[in-house]
Amino acid sequence: MTGLLYGIGAGPGDPELITVLGLRLLQAADVIFLPATQAGRSYAGTIVDGYLDRRHQEIRELICPPYRDRAAVIARWAALADDVAAALASGRVGAFVCEGDPSLYSTFLHLREALRTCGPEIEIRTIPGVTSVSAAAAAGDFPLATWDERLLIAPAVYGAADIPALFASAESLALLKPGGALQPLISALQTQGGTIRAVLARRVGRPEQQIFTDIEAMHWAPEDYFTTMLIRRERR
Ligand SMILES: C[S@@+](CC[C@H](N)C(=O)[O-])C[C@H]1O[C@@H](n2cnc3c(N)ncnc32)[C@H](O)[C@@H]1O
Repeated sequence: MTGLLYGIGAGPGDPELITVLGLRLLQAADVIFLPATQAGRSYAGTIVDGYLDRRHQEIRELICPPYRDRAAVIARWAALADDVAAALASGRVGAFVCEGDPSLYSTFLHLREALRTCGPEIEIRTIPGVTSVSAAAAAGDFPLATWDERLLIAPAVYGAADIPALFASAESLALLKPGGALQPLISALQTQGGTIRAVLARRVGRPEQQIFTDIEAMHWAPEDYFTTMLIRRERR
């Protein structure tokens, strides 16, 4: 018997933003896999917690610390993939839940890659989810792209100094994982002049959600991994 693994996008935070298909498959799964950087701290798990049946479903956390080193991340997911393959070997159905969409900067991509090696017999299906980019745009009344505009999604390893180059390739930018780059980015926006429009969205869809549309006020945003910044150069 071969196992089946769904990679399910839970959406960015509001439990109602999971798709109907994602929810149905989640609730029918035998084993739920929740990515976390430390035990008991799965953001995706927080989103779907109310949907899980802890009496009949096995819940497993897959813990990968936030390594900076790519090789360490790959090695860790190789080890976690062994655990997933073993858990599904008897033909059980698993659901790996990630925040947002599984195909956008998700740990599901690391797991899927590693399973190709250690569990090639396991069938893997991806169930899309609402991205943090879409949710931040909706919360901030922000047009991501219209007419012939281009939208560029990038991690904020591209910092303040890269803004002019990024704007050379797209009218609209979505910057994820801003971390320590956030404050310099905000300062850089303040020097760009009046044609810049921006949204800073923290924990969209969670009770603690914060949305900033005033660039000056963004300096007050706490540094938080679950923050997305949208920036566009408005046409005159
Ligand atoms: C590893 S990436 C995962 C992206 C996710 N798969 C998606 O589709 O949005 C993590 C980044 O997504 C963004 N993010 C995820 N959830 C968010 C939320 N609720 N509010 C704001 N940003 C969020 C942040 O930029 C965070 O650093």
